[in-house]
Amino acid sequence: MAPSLKTVVNGIELENPFLLGSGPPGTNAKVIAKSFDLGWGGVVCKTISLDSSKVINTAPRYGKLKSREDEKVVLGFENIELISDRPFDTWVAELRQLKKDYPKKVLIASIMEEYRREAWQEIVRRTQETGVDALELNLSCPHGMPERKMGQAMGEDPSICQEVCGWVREVAKIPVWAKMTPNVGDPTASAKAAVKAGADGISAINTILCVIGVDLRTLRPMPTVEGHSVPGGYSGAAVRPIALRHVMEIARALPGVPISGMGGIETGFDAAQFFLLGSHTVQVCTGAMLQGYEIISKMKEELLKVMADHKMEAVKELVGKSLPYFTTHADLVERQRAAKAAKVGTARDNETWKGEIKKETDSLSTN
Ligand SMILES: Cc1cc2nc3c(=O)[nH]c(=O)nc-3n(C[C@H](O)[C@H](O)[C@H](O)COP(=O)(O)O)c2cc1C
Repeated sequence: MAPSLKTVVNGIELENPFLLGSGPPGTNAKVIAKSFDLGWGGVVCKTISLDSSKVINTAPRYGKLKSREDEKVVLGFENIELISDRPFDTWVAELRQLKKDYPKKVLIASIMEEYRREAWQEIVRRTQETGVDALELNLSCPHGMPERKMGQAMGEDPSICQEVCGWVREVAKIPVWAKMTPNVGDPTASAKAAVKAGADGISAINTILCVIGVDLRTLRPMPTVEGHSVPGGYSGAAVRPIALRHVMEIARALPGVPISGMGGIETGFDAAQFFLLGSHTVQVCTGAMLQGYEIISKMKEELLKVMADHKMEAVKELVGKSLPYFTTHADLVERQRAAKAAKVGTARDNETWKGEIKKETDSLSTN
């Protein structure tokens, strides 16, 4: 049978596992409708809160790390953008209309509130009434919002994370995904706490705190707002290896819990790696911002190609397939010793080891 991208997560049917991640690509109903028309399986809307008047953005709010070889290639992207500054009531009306117009597409509301039970429970109640398929709790925005004790300020502390997910669970009637910050030592602690409190899935990763650079003409850090700056969130291709590692660690710590993986996904081949390390769906934010929503067609073809190459019919056959091959360093050493011994009949001596390591180091410096 030909491979199919149809997939079911937390009982939600998706025509394909590609979602637009929370951010500019899902900033209003018009662009969300456009992305549905172009073939995205679902969209996580830009994060919303009850009182948008407290959300004040600056300009500029983006910065790019460009390739030295080709200035058109963006390796990494910084933003100091806050959550949505559009009124909550506008969002509620738009989410309701989108679900009416696109009943088969998956619409997930990203929500964030202050550290108060009533606020979280109110936003959950009012958002789920629109008919959205699931909620994603933004416990991970690393800039701006933590100054109000929101976003990462909650998600980096497993006990607060557990408390907030518990409040949400008390009133949520639809699946709840908790979105994790990578700006922590142990990526599994808050994820475990969220699931313990009743989260149905984990989204990872939000952006990585960074400073994109300093303008050598003005000597001011970027992005520069009235001569000043703040650290922002890093995303795009450069963060992919870090995101893969976070997804892998969370998948190993929470077997069976659906993960929505993201961070630097630009192709179906990138996405395939997230599935192999335990994601059940993937999200794309910066890739769609830089290259357009149209990338979805190619991404789907590429993922189908990986599946066909490995004679797989369903996405779930990819999920977690590469996880068993992570081990400890000591085990790698032992495996290599045993493999070499089996090949040549003797264990290798130290000189051979040193020679091989030197060859590898030399080739790195000449590349
Ligand atoms: C400009 C911009 C705005 C974002 N806004 C949000 C947001 O409102 N809520 C949220 O949960 N994540 C937000 N994100 C984070 C993304 O959803 C995603 O977690 C992160 O960028 C990594 O994925 P990517 O490399 O595909 O962008 C934003 C990212 C960018 C680049």
